[in-house]
Amino acid sequence: MQKILIKGGHVIDLGNGRDTKADLLVEGNRIAAIGDQLTVEGAEVVDAEGCTVSPGFVDLHVHLREPGFEYKEDIFTGTRAAARGGFTSIVCMPNTEPVIDDETGVRFVRDKAGQHGAVRVYPAGAVTKGQKGEEIAEIGLMHEAGAKMFSDDGLPVVSARVMSTALTYSKMFGVPISTHEEDPTLAGDGAVNFGRISTLMGLPGMPEEAETVMIARDLELCRRVGGHLHIGHVSTARSVALIAGAKEDGVNVTCEVTPHHLTLTEDLVRESDYDTNTKMKPPLRTESDRRALVTALREGIIDAVATDHAPHSFDDKDREYIFADNGIVGLETAFALLHDRLVLPGDLPLHRLIEALTAAPARILGVDAGTLREGALADIAILRTDQEWAVNPGDFASKGRNTPLVGWSLTGKVETVLVDGKIVMRGGELL
Ligand code: DOR
Ligand code: ZN
Repeated sequence: MQKILIKGGHVIDLGNGRDTKADLLVEGNRIAAIGDQLTVEGAEVVDAEGCTVSPGFVDLHVHLREPGFEYKEDIFTGTRAAARGGFTSIVCMPNTEPVIDDETGVRFVRDKAGQHGAVRVYPAGAVTKGQKGEEIAEIGLMHEAGAKMFSDDGLPVVSARVMSTALTYSKMFGVPISTHEEDPTLAGDGAVNFGRISTLMGLPGMPEEAETVMIARDLELCRRVGGHLHIGHVSTARSVALIAGAKEDGVNVTCEVTPHHLTLTEDLVRESDYDTNTKMKPPLRTESDRRALVTALREGIIDAVATDHAPHSFDDKDREYIFADNGIVGLETAFALLHDRLVLPGDLPLHRLIEALTAAPARILGVDAGTLREGALADIAILRTDQEWAVNPGDFASKGRNTPLVGWSLTGKVETVLVDGKIVMRGGELL
């Protein structure tokens, strides 16, 4: 059996009570031992001196774009981008063409990812047929075929009745419903946050209540119906307050936040002079929203970090601001951005960031990942917290180059990644 010994790193895995220097032995596809000064005959040694050894990251929100939009991304390139970012398990969203709304779609993604994927892929199935918001999709059959989460992401589930039914299914099958909270009558054609910046720049604004009224609705539905409500990409201070209240009451709700909403604000839209790589849904908000998100993440009110990696082609973005597609790539910059902007200044402890990228999302998804427990699958990310690098989209494994971070200098790099006991990236290079 193949053996890999990861030596001299600082292992962070709070779920198993570890935040210490230790060696880690991988045998086959499992973690065989963690201990002091391990020496193992015939093992390939990975030198992790000066590095942090973390469970591989788990991303609950990735757009792989296959089938249908392979010019933006595909399963091969998207999973390679994930591996480069330290992600070893990802959920891919069903807003493809055709929409992943039946077993065939789920099987297609699983099979293709099994053949060409660099990391584990868990397809999310659509909540409604064709993501039209009308008829509930075959959630049970998709679940049987391997879908672990359900979402109409990209679009809100406008009908409260349909969402209520979806939560009933969630309860029945024990699967989370991940939401994109946006009331279309309030959101209108908003391209940026409604407020100072939308006014100054003459752009249509999307008010925070487009998000919060839908969150309030879904929390009330979940309170009544049960099931597991997972709120996607929360972006405002009020969203956090609503979720905190519901959690206190025992509502079965979890939520995620993106690296960009934790680190960037609407001011970047102006500073970047209408760079369409600042356009996404939900939009970048205010500094006080951003701070509330960071606090909520630190305190565990926000459970997980998810990238909402949303690759688009050059042409999709190279338009007038109001006509450009929404979204930015995130897999290959997530750890560096969060480490540089939140951990280094002391706003978020490294162990909490790692938990929000590993154990927390794994728990939400109900998969045995995000842990370095002995006997667990060997999905591992080795990180350099002292290495500075400049973001160059030309180096991305993703087909998407749409990031507002071009040229940004960030400290924190993913060095080596193991998936299922195999090294898929070493010294920053994909194998
Ligand atoms: O910015 C976004 N892009 N937000 C979404 O909800 C969807 C995503 C996409 O599919 O491009
Ligand atoms: Zn979304």
